Amino acid sequence: MSLAVGVIGTGVMGAEHARLLRCAISGAHLAAVCDADESRATAAAQGAAVFTDAHALIASDKVQAVVIASPDATHADYALSCLAAGKPVLCEKPIAATAAEGLAIVQAEVALGRQLVTVGFMRRFDPAYNDMRRARIAGSIGDAVLLHNVHRNVSAPDWFTGAMAVTNSLVHEIDISRWLLDAEMITAQVISAPGGDPMLVTMQTETGAIVSTEVYMNAAYGYHVHAQLVGRKGTVEMAAPTRMLTNLAAAQSFTFPANWVPRFTEAYCLQMQAWVDASKIGTTTGASAWDGFVTTSIAEQIVQGMASANPIPLSFPQRPALYA
Ligand SMILES: NC(=O)c1ccc[n+]([C@@H]2O[C@H](COP(=O)([O-])OP(=O)(O)OC[C@H]3O[C@@H](n4cnc5c(N)ncnc54)[C@H](O)[C@@H]3O)[C@@H](O)[C@H]2O)c1
Repeated sequence: MSLAVGVIGTGVMGAEHARLLRCAISGAHLAAVCDADESRATAAAQGAAVFTDAHALIASDKVQAVVIASPDATHADYALSCLAAGKPVLCEKPIAATAAEGLAIVQAEVALGRQLVTVGFMRRFDPAYNDMRRARIAGSIGDAVLLHNVHRNVSAPDWFTGAMAVTNSLVHEIDISRWLLDAEMITAQVISAPGGDPMLVTMQTETGAIVSTEVYMNAAYGYHVHAQLVGRKGTVEMAAPTRMLTNLAAAQSFTFPANWVPRFTEAYCLQMQAWVDASKIGTTTGASAWDGFVTTSIAEQIVQGMASANPIPLSFPQRPALYA
């Protein structure tokens, strides 16, 4: 049986998810698309049904599982609608625009008694991050004491405000750091350059490990994500983000992609395949609704406290048994 998937929002990310479902994923097909801009939906559909109302797509008997790739502010409403319909959902990060909305999704899943939500923190499927996590678990570098993250974009669009560097970009590092270290964050502290970009965020985990993250939205030279995990005996870090090195004119070089899609193509594909496979057997994969809520909650607490020079204490409600 091929899983019939509907994609909501067919901009940059949604069009890529739709392409994967059409061309690269086994055991599923693109059954429907929806976008507030019907011409975008039609361009991505390539034979799939076209909706302009996301709730109608979610309710449709043509759709068994849903991908949400519309703007952040729409995620909670559509995810709750998927839960009410009992359909598995891969919701792009962040799970919701606010921690309160994220918690409402967690509470809806708890009331349902089963998990249906996967949050699209695709770095959990990136081979380099997986190699680093395996190395930590194997113990070869000793106890992990530091994680250095770098997150640089070429340039931020005009509408990208200071807080969005945290709620929309840093959320990737919050999630991947919790996952790489298998530990919860307990404090955070922010230093920003004049104008707010770049910013350096340090967090500390319950195990005492320190996480530093540079978020630089206008780094100009390319899209660059890097991580180095420091242990008591050694370190592991990502290699160059390309498969090819060029030797020319007495220099060795590689190129950076312009954005996240080429850098994480493999991760998006592995995430989609894992989500399809899990959905078909009634389970979930990757980041849970709880992970999505905690990440959005940390981001929100950082934004609220970032004007302070003092460490921000982070707190969350108790993790429900559903996510044990
Ligand atoms: N996982 C990642 O690496 C990653 C990268 C970029 C963006 N994202 C997330 O993916 C989501 C989409 O980002 P994007 O860069 O593709 O944005 P985008 O602006 O390119 O696309 C969003 C699309 O949603 C449509 N839309 C707007 N309101 C809608 C509504 N109410 N219902 C249905 N469609 C609606 C827009 O017309 C547009 O086509 C965001 O939540 C973003 O945070 C994730």
